[in-house]
Amino acid sequence: MRQSSLVVMANRLPVDDSVAPDGACEWRRSPGGLVSALHPLLKHTPATWIGWAGGTGPAPALPDVDGVRLHTVPLTPEDFRDHYEGFANATLWPLYHDAVEQPEHHRRWWEAYQRVNRRFAEAAAAVTEPGGVVWVQDYHLQLVPALLRDLRPDLRIGFFLHVPFPPPELFMQLPRRAELLRGILGADLVGFQRAHAAHNFAQLVAKVIGVPATDRQVEVDGRTVRVGAFPVSIDTAEMAALAARPDVVARADRLRNDLGDPEHVILSVDRMDYTKGIEQRLKAYSELIASGDVKVQDTVMVQVAVPSRERVGQYQILRDRVEREVGRINGEFGRVGEPAIHYLTQPFDRAELAALYRMADVLAVTPLRDGMNLVAKEYVAARVDDSGTLLLSEFAGAAAELSQAYLVNPHDLEGLKQGLLAALQADPADAAARMRAMREHLHRYDIRSWARSYLSALDENGSLLHEMITD
Ligand code: ADP
Ligand code: G6P
Repeated sequence: MRQSSLVVMANRLPVDDSVAPDGACEWRRSPGGLVSALHPLLKHTPATWIGWAGGTGPAPALPDVDGVRLHTVPLTPEDFRDHYEGFANATLWPLYHDAVEQPEHHRRWWEAYQRVNRRFAEAAAAVTEPGGVVWVQDYHLQLVPALLRDLRPDLRIGFFLHVPFPPPELFMQLPRRAELLRGILGADLVGFQRAHAAHNFAQLVAKVIGVPATDRQVEVDGRTVRVGAFPVSIDTAEMAALAARPDVVARADRLRNDLGDPEHVILSVDRMDYTKGIEQRLKAYSELIASGDVKVQDTVMVQVAVPSRERVGQYQILRDRVEREVGRINGEFGRVGEPAIHYLTQPFDRAELAALYRMADVLAVTPLRDGMNLVAKEYVAARVDDSGTLLLSEFAGAAAELSQAYLVNPHDLEGLKQGLLAALQADPADAAARMRAMREHLHRYDIRSWARSYLSALDENGSLLHEMITD
């Protein structure tokens, strides 16, 4: 078996075996921010990416993708139901996002989570060179660090959580809270998006495990586990270059033309997820139209919402509600050939996304809770002429960095409406100054700077890692 000195592990591989309309298997880029962040970073490096390819049954043997070796971990239909849809996405996901939907607890889901985490740990143990580095990603795999340490004490093990880490009073609801914390503590470095997540983690470790813990380090089993905040980012230069391409600029103009050349275009791009605040945003928009503050004749909203986790009940309910509301708003306020909202559920390639970003005057990103939100960063990177305004929820991790955005509390309907109006009516010079400051920030703090800061903290004498993650 081929071995690597750097192994990255996530529930998702960068490709997903979606089924084509004719029933054939076709490989597509996987959804979500984790893949958007890691893929540009790892391509053309000798790293191995361990993950699941999106289907159930035996693991397909995948060719390298952009020079990255892929190692597939299979999920059975029961693993898919109980580990992925169950414990990961119906227990942990809602709990870690402020319980905006009720987390469910089932013993069978926990058993599946343990089983799948063990399988991932065994895969990493098999493909990592002696003394190598394994970087475990996200909430699906929190038991892997400790399991892997037992199997391979020679490795450096990192863990990074892409989603929020909840306050102690929420985490304490988890029946297996101690096991989860012990799992994470198998790592040498535990990274979070934001400093207060590291603080929550330290408080929990002190309380539940009863060992000395600060926001920077934990002493456990005779080892020091380092803890810190490492806000994830995007390939800023790549998005800026894409958005500046003449064909993308032409496509943006055509899109705008197809919308009837309105005065204002508001865009939202989300996975169809109850954390993203889609319903609250639609309500705010609809009230602004009803009150006459926004006129359908000169303002158009484009809502892109790719279906996600489609068999999980809460996601089905959300999709039905969103589609009903879009239908209601269009029925009530649209005119023939002039809908109030253009609603799209398709996945787009990167160039089409860049064209959408370039076309929009306002990007409305209003999650109720979000670990980071890379869509917000992509929009800023794409505004190469410094035009456009970003309406951003205070509860997205990105708000800590993009403080020049129009910040709103999505739970406050009146505040959301005022924020949307302010973003629509922004003074161009002020908007340009804000956008420039945010773009400069993202050119400095891009995905490579994220990886460098994390990996150099994980592997103090790791010259190898610097070579791998090059500019
Ligand atoms: P999350 O990880 O919760 O989905 P993020 O905003 O961090 O949220 O990341 C979403 C990623 O998915 C972004 O990189 C965005 O470009 C991508 N994306 C969202 N919608 C689409 C779509 N319709 N087609 C292709 N990519 C999309
Ligand atoms: C978020 C999570 C990722 C996940 C992605 C898409 O970004 O942090 O781990 O891959 O959503 O969700 P999915 O369930 O389709 O993998």
